[in-house]
Amino acid sequence: MSNHVCPWWIGYLLASPLRRLFQKPEDILSPYVKEGMTILEVGPGMGFFTLPMARLVGPQGKIVCIDIQERMIKSLMRRATRAGLSERIITRITSGDSLQVNDFSDSVDFALLFAVVHEVSDQEKLFREVHATLKDNSLVLVSEPAGHVNRDEFNQTLATAKLVGFEVIASPEIKRNLSVVLRKSNQVTLH
Ligand SMILES: C[S@@+](CC[C@H](N)C(=O)[O-])C[C@H]1O[C@@H](n2cnc3c(N)ncnc32)[C@H](O)[C@@H]1O
Repeated sequence: MSNHVCPWWIGYLLASPLRRLFQKPEDILSPYVKEGMTILEVGPGMGFFTLPMARLVGPQGKIVCIDIQERMIKSLMRRATRAGLSERIITRITSGDSLQVNDFSDSVDFALLFAVVHEVSDQEKLFREVHATLKDNSLVLVSEPAGHVNRDEFNQTLATAKLVGFEVIASPEIKRNLSVVLRKSNQVTLH
């Protein structure tokens, strides 16, 4: 599996409104994202999903966005400010070794990992850190681009997620992607 990180300029393509022709954020996320929720989004890029989620959570909700590229986060915040949504969005730029979200332990209602897991070298650590932020029984949508990730690689990712205490509860249909919904269970494997 390659851990090649998406170049910053691809962020503009990923945030293009044309993408809505095959991936509509509201349709993909409205089953999971509700008013007042705290959402963790890993690898938001320039915010194709972040802004719609900020609308769905409303003024009492928060989206915590963690990315390793400053240019992605800066562009995301410019878009959020223009849309009047910046107060609902918290951003962090991290080194890639850790999400650095210890202060969000047991406080996240839903996490989105869209087209990011294959870019992360230590997937077990990623899933452990996401697991620690979630409230019990909270859900995670993991969706990977089928052009970059094959079925075997995706199954390997799911095996890692299960190892740290997630169960797969659904496989939603998202065009061009391989996708699952995970639920935090309390059966964490320690080693
Ligand atoms: C292919 S882009 C997807 C962006 C967005 N999720 C979307 O679907 O439009 C992957 C994003 O993940 C970020 N990323 C890669 N490795 C990361 C890591 N270890 N922690 C956080 N973000 C990461 C990249 O900087 C990039 O913004």
